[in-house]
Amino acid sequence: MSPFALPPLSFLVLVSLVNIRYTTAAPSLTDDSHCGCYLTNGTDTRYFTQHKFFDFRDLEKYAGVPDILTDIDNTTNAPPTSDYFTSPDWTNTWAIQNWNTSGHGARSDASVLRYNSPNNVYIEKNADPDNPSPKTWMTLRTGRLPDFQTAAEIESMSKDHLYQYLSIRLLARTIGAPGAVTAFFTYLEQPTVQEADLEILTAGPRDVVQYTNQPSVDDDGDVIAQATQNATLPDGLEWTEWAIHRLDWTPTQSTWYVNGRQTAQIAFQVPRDPAQVVLNAWSDGGQWTGKMSVHDAAYFQIQWLEMVFNSTTVEKRDGEGQAGCKAVCSIDETPQTGKPVMLFDNAAQKGVSRASGLMVWVTTGTVLGMAYMSWA
Ligand SMILES: *[C@@H]1O[C@H](CO)[C@@H](O)[C@H](O)[C@H]1NC(C)=O
Ligand SMILES: *[C@@H]1O[C@H](CO)[C@@H](O)[C@H](O)[C@H]1NC(C)=O
Ligand SMILES: *[C@@H]1O[C@H](CO)[C@@H](O)[C@H](O)[C@H]1NC(C)=O
Ligand SMILES: *[C@@H]1O[C@H](CO)[C@@H](O)[C@H](O)[C@H]1NC(C)=O
Ligand SMILES: *[C@@H]1O[C@H](CO)[C@@H](O)[C@H](O)[C@H]1NC(C)=O
Repeated sequence: MSPFALPPLSFLVLVSLVNIRYTTAAPSLTDDSHCGCYLTNGTDTRYFTQHKFFDFRDLEKYAGVPDILTDIDNTTNAPPTSDYFTSPDWTNTWAIQNWNTSGHGARSDASVLRYNSPNNVYIEKNADPDNPSPKTWMTLRTGRLPDFQTAAEIESMSKDHLYQYLSIRLLARTIGAPGAVTAFFTYLEQPTVQEADLEILTAGPRDVVQYTNQPSVDDDGDVIAQATQNATLPDGLEWTEWAIHRLDWTPTQSTWYVNGRQTAQIAFQVPRDPAQVVLNAWSDGGQWTGKMSVHDAAYFQIQWLEMVFNSTTVEKRDGEGQAGCKAVCSIDETPQTGKPVMLFDNAAQKGVSRASGLMVWVTTGTVLGMAYMSWA
């Protein structure tokens, strides 16, 4: 063995250690102005161009639970429950609904009319002394009155703020009486319904949620089996517990996750065209929702909602970013919900991603390995 073998070997080990440190460094926090696109994780990773984050966890000055309004006109015409819902942070994206099913739109087996009300969308203070965090959340409420079901629905603003492909996540729970549905979904009504849905039935088992690419019923009223799945929540979770519910809508499938674990994937009848995002809490007293008892209520509570949307292309991850998007960010790998991290910035050559770090490691490792072998 050459007497020169030892120094290069220890040098190689040292360089490798430096590189390992480099590759495991967490990507650094950044903000949207530095992100050209966002790469999602999961089984159907994609690049999206836009990012929105709504945080309801620290809105004490807007908190207050309004009494249910028992009069149909008053509930329909109720004002927003706080100034939060008139601020641009909210109104730039969301519209609170007040339509009802008295004219049309009720399912054929509905037994109770549904009246959506702005009075059922509010910021609520956490009153649990044992679990004081977060301070607040947003609640969508639905309650049964003798003559109607009061309900809540928010829709992303109007038809000209549409999304085509997205990954949406919300930290949410559903509590309250049986006979309600709480849901979030993509929605396009015309010319035929296209939807990717998560629906929770408060009359159903607490560990089961329903996922659907609508329509789930054909013209004869028969269930289209490939369009819908009832899934069991992972890790013994129940939908009364806070959990991160996620839908990834891509050109080829709808994939749902709970706390990062995939719960369903439906490739049949995937929505194709630009759509709105809708969240609601309601009932129609029909067979599917069940009939809520008079004076009961149920609540869809949301701590935060985040989405990345609009694809740059339909290409999958190639480890290098892609043309038109030099600065690739992530909302998955971040230590701070709502704030992206930079995965790689090809323009600035200052990426800290595992992918680019690995390339440096492999390259230096190979060069030094070859040098060592020719030396020794
Ligand atoms: C995506 O990243 C999140 C946050 O790190 C993690 O909780 C989740 O398990 C990951 N999901 C998948 C499907 O890899
Ligand atoms: C409806 O609202 C008006 C104005 O606040 C109030 O005077 C009236 O009593 C309400 N009607 C019912 C039936 O609650
Ligand atoms: C309920 O909706 C119908 C249209 O479907 C509308 O004509 C009616 O005014 C609404 N009811 C109230 C109380 O606003
Ligand atoms: C997202 O894509 C939809 C459909 O192409 C488009 O209407 C919308 O303007 C896009 N949104 C943004 C913020 O680019
Ligand atoms: C899922 O559960 C709902 C509520 O019980 C039921 O109406 C539906 O038919 C079920 N779907 C499937 C595919 O089992």
